[in-house]
Amino acid sequence: MDNNKRPESMERITTPALAEAFINEQVTALREQIGDKKVLLALSGGVDSSVVAALLIKAVGKQLVSVHVNHGLLRKGEPEQVVNVFRNQMNANLVYVDAVDRFLDKLAGVADPETKRKIIGDEFIKVFEEEARKLDGIEFLAQGTIYPDIIESKGVKAHHNVGGLPEDLKFELVEPLKFLYKDEVRVVGDALGLPAAMVYRQPFPGPGLGVRCLGAITRDRLEIVRESDAILREEFAKNGLEGKVWQYFTAVPDFKSVGVKDGKRTDAYPVILRAVNTVDAMTATVEDIPFALLQHITDRITNEVEGVNRVLYDLTPKPCGTIEWE
Ligand code: XMP
Repeated sequence: MDNNKRPESMERITTPALAEAFINEQVTALREQIGDKKVLLALSGGVDSSVVAALLIKAVGKQLVSVHVNHGLLRKGEPEQVVNVFRNQMNANLVYVDAVDRFLDKLAGVADPETKRKIIGDEFIKVFEEEARKLDGIEFLAQGTIYPDIIESKGVKAHHNVGGLPEDLKFELVEPLKFLYKDEVRVVGDALGLPAAMVYRQPFPGPGLGVRCLGAITRDRLEIVRESDAILREEFAKNGLEGKVWQYFTAVPDFKSVGVKDGKRTDAYPVILRAVNTVDAMTATVEDIPFALLQHITDRITNEVEGVNRVLYDLTPKPCGTIEWE
């Protein structure tokens, strides 16, 4: 039997009852596989790793050691949410690593997008490896691999970033979601009691805000990306667009333009808004945001975010633009 092929008899998980049945089955299987040993997990706070964490906490409690690496490129409130949900509410064994300075120092002055991605990926593995070496008795590595990852990449979940650990840290893999599609993962996450903001969140690239702070990342522009993104998300949620629009975010270029405020000329950054709909991210159309809402978001960003004097809305579909700006 090909153990990377979803069994034909497996029913689609579409209801809470089916999710409960899946969870019970997995809890039994995970206890059997893991016994009294320890499992390690890189917990980003994304849907897949969060559902894997919640499932393993239910199955083996504190035998799961989750490592959350804050690389400084997460959205506003995300590292806090991971600590709050997993450590405070679920009583998980969570190692929180503040690696912000380390990542930003490595990225300083690097403008090429693919080099930025490589630095972020490589540094992530290094931090994770260092944390793994501090722990005793780990025998398993849990991953949030889902079925599309297997179909698309023959089992290598590149954007989870933990595939590159050195040979002496090759643990036995635990991949309880490997036959599930994204919508099924969300139903299971709901049934496990994870917050809706975690279970239904929009896709977020592995390199995070790093590819939205265009060119060489600087701390001031990174804060502009983070704060403007938080305003965009808040306004989309208030106006019924959250959950309706597939992906929306802000990007900040590495040049300034002239503006005027309180009778004085300003020299500040523009913020670009992007909001797109797609099925598979291969092509995308632009969301028709009401003009009044665009104006309100512009007012809020230019008034509330330090160092911004213009807001632009990107009207380009994919193709010929990509969804991200780099
Ligand atoms: P593009 O910009 O290629 O993006 O139209 C398509 C989808 O992929 C996401 N994306 C990434 N995801 N690592 C990821 O995990 C990356 O380096 C990366 N670059 C783009 C993007 O957010 C969109 O959903």
